[in-house]
Amino acid sequence: QPTSLIGAPTDIGAGARGASMGPEALRVAGLQAALELHGLQVFDRGNLGGPSNPWLPPVNGYRHLPEVAQWNRLVYDAVYAELQLGHLPILLGGDHSLGLGSISAVARHCAESGKKLRVLWLDAHADFNTSELTPSGNVHGMPVACLCGFGPAELTQLAAMPGGGPALRPEQIRQIGIRSVDAGEKRFVHEQGLEVFDMRAIDEVGMRQVMERALAGVDTHTHLHVSFDVDFLDPDIAPGVGTTVPGGPTYREAQLCMEMIADSGRLASLDIVELNPALDVRNKTAVLAVDLVESLFGKSTLMRTRPV
Ligand code: ARG
Ligand code: MN
Ligand code: MN
Ligand code: MN
Repeated sequence: QPTSLIGAPTDIGAGARGASMGPEALRVAGLQAALELHGLQVFDRGNLGGPSNPWLPPVNGYRHLPEVAQWNRLVYDAVYAELQLGHLPILLGGDHSLGLGSISAVARHCAESGKKLRVLWLDAHADFNTSELTPSGNVHGMPVACLCGFGPAELTQLAAMPGGGPALRPEQIRQIGIRSVDAGEKRFVHEQGLEVFDMRAIDEVGMRQVMERALAGVDTHTHLHVSFDVDFLDPDIAPGVGTTVPGGPTYREAQLCMEMIADSGRLASLDIVELNPALDVRNKTAVLAVDLVESLFGKSTLMRTRPV
């Protein structure tokens, strides 16, 4: 299946400037060539062009809401167009607020093609804040809530879903690697019944069992979307992000996570977000992200016929 790279160079929803340079850093790190080595056909669609970042304080609990909405409309249209073509879209962020446009397009595509949607949210953060709960007003802390229908109309109604409901139901989401959740957000995650595999779960049962559980029920009718916030990774190996949280997955744990997703054979769309080259060290976080994405697309040391 052909893949299409879509750059969204913005930090409109973030609390630090710099994620706007993410798409180019991933290209410089050799993303396209790495995917082509695995026999994939890759189309680089270049970058979307949206509003610049005005860097203003929150208004009614949101920073830059009109600009965030505009960027997400552009991302929605671009991702939806690739899915219509039968391509696997890879969104190069940009901050994680863009997951809204990307996943709204995927949800619409699944509704139209009769696929079940499962979203794997790899992140240090739950991104489940609302304008009442947010400590920052940064919309990159809110996309999961908005996708579930909790947020302003310009963000929750990106996809005209059949029946007019939200893009996602909480039971379609699995969060992995979580280790920073704000006080009100924590209560809301619990109330909505999000299935969260936090770092404690990874410590206790290991990445293998966490991924078995997160992928349980994924079958041939499933469209699997991975939303990869690079701050998922431990900051010792991935310093180039705006909101580092210590105690994340190691290199080996992250590799296994990606390999087990690849083994499912159902990966159908991907976001790579929150990479911040302004905070990186000689582009090493971008290089690491490319390395992990290779595993996500099936790179393996040996030719395995079955799991160990
Ligand atoms: N929970 C914090 C907030 O809402 C941080 C969110 C970080 N999100 C991210 N996608 N990096 O402000
Ligand atoms: Mn499809
Ligand atoms: Mn995060
Ligand atoms: Mn995130």
